[in-house]
Amino acid sequence: MRIGILGGTGPAGSGLAARLASIGYPSVIGSRSKYRAMEKRDSLLASWPDLAGMLDSGDNDDAAACDLVVIATPWDSAATTAQEHTDALRGKIVISMANALVRVGHEFQPLVPPRGSVAAHVQAAMPECRVVAAFHHLPAKELGNLGEPIDSDVLICGDDPAAVRDVSDIVAKIPGCRPLDAGELSNATAIEAFTAVLLQLNVRYKTRVAPKLTGIKRDPRAVDD
Ligand SMILES: NC(=O)c1ccc[n+]([C@@H]2O[C@H](COP(=O)([O-])OP(=O)(O)OC[C@H]3O[C@@H](n4cnc5c(N)ncnc54)[C@H](OP(=O)(O)O)[C@@H]3O)[C@@H](O)[C@H]2O)c1
Repeated sequence: MRIGILGGTGPAGSGLAARLASIGYPSVIGSRSKYRAMEKRDSLLASWPDLAGMLDSGDNDDAAACDLVVIATPWDSAATTAQEHTDALRGKIVISMANALVRVGHEFQPLVPPRGSVAAHVQAAMPECRVVAAFHHLPAKELGNLGEPIDSDVLICGDDPAAVRDVSDIVAKIPGCRPLDAGELSNATAIEAFTAVLLQLNVRYKTRVAPKLTGIKRDPRAVDD
């Protein structure tokens, strides 16, 4: 499965592309400028030469042509960026990882986008896509530090259970990550907004936190009959 990242030149998208490539998914860093994407790919390959052959670059059209596509643009351009690729994305799993937040002084505050979350907004704009919300809480730096596992749960939600399972299978391959099925896409509102709390904790405790929940003993990917 080839995975394309729209807006993949930023810290989150490029870190995710490198991480996915490192676990065996050929990944394409997309950008509005294929040259910017090429520079980002080359800088990643300079740090992680083993990714050669697994990490590609191109414009956002090239990323949208992949089998599964991640939107890693700022939140306020996620839906419009997806809509620019409506034909290429039709029927595909599209992962939304954007958080609608604003920093006011020392405070991070969640914003409420149309439809209550960025992911739901993207789904409404792209009804023929299978939108899954995931990766909101993984710090970009940890995503891109391939030498270390990422010690975190990944809350995943969406209205297409098969798509949520497919994304869970990908997440389960990332060392240290545990995928958790967090229900339907309506829960993306809470997942995205919670990122403001995590960023606030980062500031308060001068660190980078990631969430881990207690109490789930069964295989988190098990499906009830
Ligand atoms: N940073 C983190 O730790 C982190 C963690 C989890 C989730 N997230 C979420 O992941 C997303 C990406 O985060 P980031 O920090 O990597 O963001 P970013 O650096 O601000 O933006 C990522 C890329 O989006 C493209 N972009 C910027 N403005 C755009 C526009 N108006 N239209 C289309 N594309 C545009 C740019 O690529 P080109 O100019 O090359 O096209 C940019 O490099 C955000 O929504 C964020 O909330 C971030």
